[in-house]
Amino acid sequence: MNIWRHIDGWREARAGTVFTGRSIGFVPTMGALHAGHLSLLERARAENDVVVMSLFVNPTQFNDPKDFEKYPQTLDADLRAAEAAGVDHVLVPDRQEIYPDDYRYRITEDRLSRILEGAHRPGHFDGVLTVVMRLFNLVRPDRAYFGEKDLQQLLLIRGMVEAFFMPVEIVACPTVRAEDGLALSSRNTLLSPEGRAKAPTFSAILRSVEDPSAARAELERAGFEVDYVEDYEQWRLGAVRLEGIRLIDNVRRQ
Ligand code: PAF
Repeated sequence: MNIWRHIDGWREARAGTVFTGRSIGFVPTMGALHAGHLSLLERARAENDVVVMSLFVNPTQFNDPKDFEKYPQTLDADLRAAEAAGVDHVLVPDRQEIYPDDYRYRITEDRLSRILEGAHRPGHFDGVLTVVMRLFNLVRPDRAYFGEKDLQQLLLIRGMVEAFFMPVEIVACPTVRAEDGLALSSRNTLLSPEGRAKAPTFSAILRSVEDPSAARAELERAGFEVDYVEDYEQWRLGAVRLEGIRLIDNVRRQ
């Protein structure tokens, strides 16, 4: 497995003949890999000749600096997991490598990015879309893999690819859940054992309560701080805080 810390070296390699005629599957991540990421890597491995993963905790998508500071960082374990999953190339750039312009140039969407998650995290999706656009330009993948857990992110990235005629197929992969129903997330590791035991109630209530405002009230009764529970097209999406840790999830409406 090749590890690229510098964009220049990677770009030179990417321009070489070794990639010619070979399909490239790309899995962008912020590290702290769990079984959800592994499912994306597995699918990318099965569908492409070459698998590229990026590992970059993107500062521009954190509207809350405290959230950025406490985001779990497990580089060595992540590299071992990537290698075991058959990744060929990992990009591990730093901020300066990805943002040589200091984020003067950015991508903005002005409808879907403003509601739900976007209404509670101003600037979040500008950061996500901008980093994904930059990574796509660096990797030039045939396919890129995203989890349905971050549904709004997935819809916005699809929309960006269509709007900018980008030659990449966006592959949506189902949310991976723990046995008790909790959607896997790097942030779950920040919960105490008591918090972790309570967390699955979030998806259970999202799924089982008919009306979004009743679901909100039920979540509050169960001890969650609720940012939103809303129905959007065929999905119900929600975000809550538990022990100060933000959890998001979505379920398909019946
Ligand atoms: O879903 C994530 O982990 C991030 O938002 C992504 C797509 C890697 C961009 O930083």
